[in-house]
Amino acid sequence: MDQLIVKGGYPLHGNVRISGAKNSGLPILIASLLSEYPLRVSNIPHLQDVTTALDLLGRLGAKVELDESMTVEVNARRVTNFRATYEIVETMRASILVLGPLLARFGQAQVSMPGGCAIGSRPIGLHIAGLKALGAKFDMEDGYIQATAHKLHGAHIFMDVVSVTGTENLMMAATLAKGTTVIENAAQEPEVVDLADCLNGMGACIEGAGTSKIIIDGVDELHGHSHTIIADRIEAGTYLVAGAATGGDVRVRDVQPENLVAVLEKLNDSGAHISTGRDWVQLNMNGRRPKSVNVRTAPFPGFPTDMQAQVLMLNSIASGTGSITETIFENRFQHVQELQRMGANIAMNGSTAFVTGVDGLKGARVTATDLRASACLALAGLVATSQTVIQKIHHIDRGYNCIEEKLSQLGAHITRVHDSGTTASFSSLYEAV
Ligand code: EPZ
Repeated sequence: MDQLIVKGGYPLHGNVRISGAKNSGLPILIASLLSEYPLRVSNIPHLQDVTTALDLLGRLGAKVELDESMTVEVNARRVTNFRATYEIVETMRASILVLGPLLARFGQAQVSMPGGCAIGSRPIGLHIAGLKALGAKFDMEDGYIQATAHKLHGAHIFMDVVSVTGTENLMMAATLAKGTTVIENAAQEPEVVDLADCLNGMGACIEGAGTSKIIIDGVDELHGHSHTIIADRIEAGTYLVAGAATGGDVRVRDVQPENLVAVLEKLNDSGAHISTGRDWVQLNMNGRRPKSVNVRTAPFPGFPTDMQAQVLMLNSIASGTGSITETIFENRFQHVQELQRMGANIAMNGSTAFVTGVDGLKGARVTATDLRASACLALAGLVATSQTVIQKIHHIDRGYNCIEEKLSQLGAHITRVHDSGTTASFSSLYEAV
């Protein structure tokens, strides 16, 4: 297993280009199944989950072409297989997103039941209930969801819980359903809006994406389209927190600042000086120690759960005590124990972590458990007084494109050690800044 070795104590300075959003790219690539014409997607991030999604589409029979500029063309004209197998779904939970498109266009889908993951049980009842309302029928056999539909029809759906991929699955299914579908209590994340924009570009008729009420008028078929996905707001937030934690001055480029409002507000509260432009955000700590902040995660436009671990880490070296309350997932504090092993002062009370800042963390050998927790540990290494070794960093590669190159480019002392013990140099993998 690869490891990251981080030597702390270096304030970060400089510009970093933010890649395309993982959580936009995945549903948008899968939306190609809705059309027999090619979908071209640009600004696709070079991530393990994207590779898995392209592998899944290929196994279903779609033709996938990837060029060197990370533009992907998917042509789903000849999809002949409707089965998302266990090993694919187990690798990437977002595979569940094939349900809606396959049912809408082909009337059938077999998808392995996704298990839970490190951060929670991750149920999919809302996906199933919504697709049933649209006319689909479901059986379970050998751990697989067997779904069929003669022809999906419009429905008025109220989602009991705000679900990002639940909203995306139902929105995609409804694009080809007969009649109008209304989704109430829909997720409002920018990635949902990006998917709706792409679907409308393919000829769908969707209104209200970005609000809690989305209205979809079904059409007979979707056509080809070229779409550029939005920037990864979580990657951007992660590098801004790295700048705040190290007392540095960091600019993230090629982003949509309007998608970062809740995060920027908390960074401002921590004492950072924030400036924004049309497609960039700059954070300058002027060498100051951050102040503790209080955070309660919530669906967009609230504070994103995917930034919870990073801000908890910021609090661990800030002045004062801050509370971090996780309301979305039931087990998203596994980074706490690893931070405590580095000297953090954290007291847990149910779904709230009370973090009292310490003057400095101590380097340690730590283990990543999930995608965002591993990013948090990398950031902790940046501020630790000695060396930190992070194990099981395959989690980090699922959501961060070339994290060690991007952090090194900002002045961090971080290297990746491969299994064989060789140290990765600045690889040509790293896209031009
Ligand atoms: C998406 O996951 C993201 N993944 C997650 O990002 C993100 O953390 C999450 O939304 C919340 O913002 C992708 O977009 C690929 P949910 P998703 O359905 O859609 C409950 C990352 O780090 N729920 O919005 O799977 C669920 O238990 C990943 O990039 C049901 O009860 O999350 C949770 O409490 C991690 N029934 C809440 O809804 C359902 O049928 C929100 O989950 C579905 C969800």
